[in-house]
Amino acid sequence: MTLVLGIESSCDETAAALVTGDRRILAQVIASQEEEHAPYGGVVPEIAARAHAERLAPIVEKVLREADVTLADCDAIAATAGPGLIGGVMVGLVTAKALAMASDTPLLAINHLEGHALSPRLADEHLQYPYALLLVSGGHCQILRVEGVGKYQRLATTIDDALGEAFDKSAKVLGLGYPGGPAVEKLALEGDAQAVPLPRPLKGSKEPHFSFAGLKSAVLRAHETGNYSDADIAASFQAAALDCILDRMRKALGEMEEVSALVVAGGVAANKTIRGGLEGLAAEFDLAFTAPPLPLCTDNAAMIAWAGIERLEAGFDADPLDFRARPRWPLDPDAEPARGAGVKA
Ligand code: KG4
Ligand code: ZN
Repeated sequence: MTLVLGIESSCDETAAALVTGDRRILAQVIASQEEEHAPYGGVVPEIAARAHAERLAPIVEKVLREADVTLADCDAIAATAGPGLIGGVMVGLVTAKALAMASDTPLLAINHLEGHALSPRLADEHLQYPYALLLVSGGHCQILRVEGVGKYQRLATTIDDALGEAFDKSAKVLGLGYPGGPAVEKLALEGDAQAVPLPRPLKGSKEPHFSFAGLKSAVLRAHETGNYSDADIAASFQAAALDCILDRMRKALGEMEEVSALVVAGGVAANKTIRGGLEGLAAEFDLAFTAPPLPLCTDNAAMIAWAGIERLEAGFDADPLDFRARPRWPLDPDAEPARGAGVKA
C-alpha cells in the first residue's frame, strides 16, 4: 500500500501528515500560528517563516511516531513547493529535501493549489475526473475544470481580491480579528442578510471572472455610516459574496464541457452558507456535489500527501533535489491572464 508523508508550510499552518493510497490518514498534525499573527490582523511573512522553522521538524517526528512508521516506510515525501509565502515554502521544501536525501526516498514537490484541488478525492472515493471546481481560499478564487492529475483548465479567477481575503478584511472592519472567515460566518447567523445594500461586483458580466475589492470597500463604507449592526453587515456581506459566486459559477457551468460533479475546496469552502448555495446550484445542473470535510478545507498536509499519492499513481517522476520554491505557480499555465490579475492568478 502506497504511503506518503506530506508537509505543508505555505501560509500560517505548519502541518505534516501520513496518508495511504486507500485514503487513510494515519496521522496528522496542524499547528496554527493564529496567536502570532492576530495582533497584526493578518499573516506576517517573516514571523510565519520563523515559526515554521521552529515547529516543522518536531511535527514530522510526531506524525511518524503516532503512525509508528519510519521515513524508509514511505514511498515518497511530498511537500508544498509553492505558491505561497516564500520563506515558509522554503522551510517546508528544504526540510523535505533533507529527509528525502537522508532516507533515500523520492521527493515530490507539490503545488499547494493542486493539494486543494484534489483534496475532495481524498474525502470521496467516488469522485471521478473531470469535475468542476471552485477553489476559494485566502489567496485564490478560481473556477477550474479538473481533468486529471496535473491537468487543469482555468475558466475564471479574481481580478483583484480573493474571497477569503474579502472575508478577512471585512472581519477586520467589524473588529472580529484574524482569521476572519469563521468569525464573519458566526456573526452572520445573528444578522439580516437583506438589511445592508451591498454591490455584487461583475454579477451578470460577460467576462467570466470574480471581483471582491468593491464589495470589501462597501462593507467599510456601510460600517462607517453607523446605520447598521455588525451582524447585519456580516450577513449582508456573506449573502452578496454568495450571490457573486453563484452567478459566476452558473455562467461557468453553462459554458464548460461535461463534468461529473461540482466541487468546492479551499479555506472558504468551510463556510456553510457558501457550501449550501453551491449544493443548490449543483442540483440545478443535475450534478453531484462534493465538499471536503472542514479540516480538509483549510490548509493541511493530508491534502499535500494525497496529491503526492495521486502523482505517484499517475506515473509522474520524483522531483529533483534542486527543485526551486515558487512564490507563484498557476495550475493552468495556458490560461489567459484576466485583466488586473497579475498578482493573484
Ligand atoms: O485554504 P486556506 O486555509 O489558506 C490559503 O491557502 O489561503 O484559506 C484560508 C482562508 C482565510 O481567508 C479564511 O478567512 C477563510 O479561508 N475561511 C473562511 C472560513 N474558514 C476559513 N471563510 C469563510 N467562512 C469560513 N468558515
Ligand atoms: Zn490553501
